[in-house]
Amino acid sequence: MLGQPRLDVETCESTQLLVDTSLPEGALVVADYQTGGRGRLGRSWAAPAGTSLLFSVLLKPPPHRPAPELSLVAGIAVADALERTLGLSVQIKWPNDVMLRRRKIAGCLAEARDGAVVLGVGVNVGQTADELPDDAGSFRTLTGRTTDREELLAMLLDDLGSRYAAWREGGLDAVYDGLGPRDFLRGRQVTVNGTSGVVTMVDRDGKLEIAVGHGETVKVSSGEVSYAR
Ligand code: BTN
Repeated sequence: MLGQPRLDVETCESTQLLVDTSLPEGALVVADYQTGGRGRLGRSWAAPAGTSLLFSVLLKPPPHRPAPELSLVAGIAVADALERTLGLSVQIKWPNDVMLRRRKIAGCLAEARDGAVVLGVGVNVGQTADELPDDAGSFRTLTGRTTDREELLAMLLDDLGSRYAAWREGGLDAVYDGLGPRDFLRGRQVTVNGTSGVVTMVDRDGKLEIAVGHGETVKVSSGEVSYAR
């Protein structure tokens, strides 16, 4: 079960840094506020106190499973929980963003450490528009309501536990039903690592497939995606 043991803090630099990798798989750190929240590709993740769900969980996947896939697995679990809470459809923007109404509502970060993976999730709940980047949204800005962060965390850990167990057993293929139909980038014109074209899919190995013209496709395993809004 994910979430045991659990450490709750009011403030820390980043929940990612508070996870002790010698603890058993499932150990959880939850914070109300972070002074140096970490995002993907060295970016920061900021949220005023009391507005966000911020947590990191310790995972110890089998060595043959590619750890970077865990940000997609987390994205699927976040999408499962948000759809159930909101009754709205939610998309996943490869490789780690969760989107509602074309804005980023949550982000996932899988960092390898000491042979384990520290998986961090941030969900925007109560921020106002001025407290968010232009391309982001929160429960409050996108739906006009908020949610109880503790209840959302419980639901999310449940969904993450099931999706993670399925992935451990059967890889990304085993959770693909939660990813393929929610692919935000499919059909969009993108540029990734200097390659431009139209996204055809996120494949069953977690790669982004881009049609670059003349019937050719290129697969990308990581990178920053820019797309026309
Ligand atoms: C991203 O979209 O770039 C990933 C954002 C991940 C943010 C979460 S908030 C909780 C955990 N602690 C951190 O410092 N980062 C992750």
